[in-house]
Amino acid sequence: MIQQRLLLQATVPAGLDRKETEAYLRLDPKRFPQHIAIIMDGNGRWAGRRHLPRVAGHRAGVEAVRSTVETAARIQIPSLTLYAFSEENWKRRPRSEVDFLMHLLCRYLKQEVPTLNKNNIRLEYIGRQHELPETVQEKMEWAREATAENTGMVLTLALNYSARSELVDAFRSMVDAAAQNGGLDHLEIDEESISQNLYTRHLPDPDLVIRTSGEMRLSNFLLWQLAYAEIYVTPTLWPDFRGVHLLEGIAEYQKRERRYGGLVEGGNSHGDHAVKKARG
Ligand code: FPP
Repeated sequence: MIQQRLLLQATVPAGLDRKETEAYLRLDPKRFPQHIAIIMDGNGRWAGRRHLPRVAGHRAGVEAVRSTVETAARIQIPSLTLYAFSEENWKRRPRSEVDFLMHLLCRYLKQEVPTLNKNNIRLEYIGRQHELPETVQEKMEWAREATAENTGMVLTLALNYSARSELVDAFRSMVDAAAQNGGLDHLEIDEESISQNLYTRHLPDPDLVIRTSGEMRLSNFLLWQLAYAEIYVTPTLWPDFRGVHLLEGIAEYQKRERRYGGLVEGGNSHGDHAVKKARG
């Protein structure tokens, strides 16, 4: 009994609760995704079901962010990216809701920096940061600098983010760089140079994208980077999402075969297997 407990302590990362421990023990730690991206959705519906204002759903969503980030860091996922605020959110939601989200973000950053540091998490952002209110930009910069020395998980918050805008910005910066460096004859466009000009140049492409609340869309999130990602959609609304749900997503990921447009692993290029050629 004591031996069994010692063995568990040696294999399970510290800090996981009972349900997380059970879920973790069903996983293969050698095949964890290197980068998980999450589309956090369903805050409004969560609030609506409780006859609460939408903002109550966003407030409850912060607890889900905390739990997910801590669990991801504890199990040593190298990169986690959260879609917190799209460019469309900014334009299409009532001003009062946008203001609330900004306020929530600032409070989260202020409160969470000590925990991020305790968990060795480095904070980064993607999106058109310069279009956000200046006070929010200042708080973001402060939190980034306060965690800059951490060497563990990279937590990237997508704020005022749009994948199409990201591609526009990447092409513009490539053209500008070429123009300043001998003219457009020097413009080199290939997959590597485009990747290097995206906001995510500091990250590998996600292996797994999770979307909560059952919606089957990518909603203009990391369109270039998700080319080969496994997609996991859970009906759980974001405010109810916790570390254990992240582990369930990873379990689902580990059941999938990743083919990158090639053949099923273990197959050959003849006969039946050639018919089964994957599309990606
Ligand atoms: C989508 O739910 C969620 C958002 C637009 C905001 C996400 C924000 C948080 C989780 C809290 C703050 C974030 C951080 C990083 C501190 P929705 O409102 O579109 O839900 P609905 O589809 O049910 O209406």
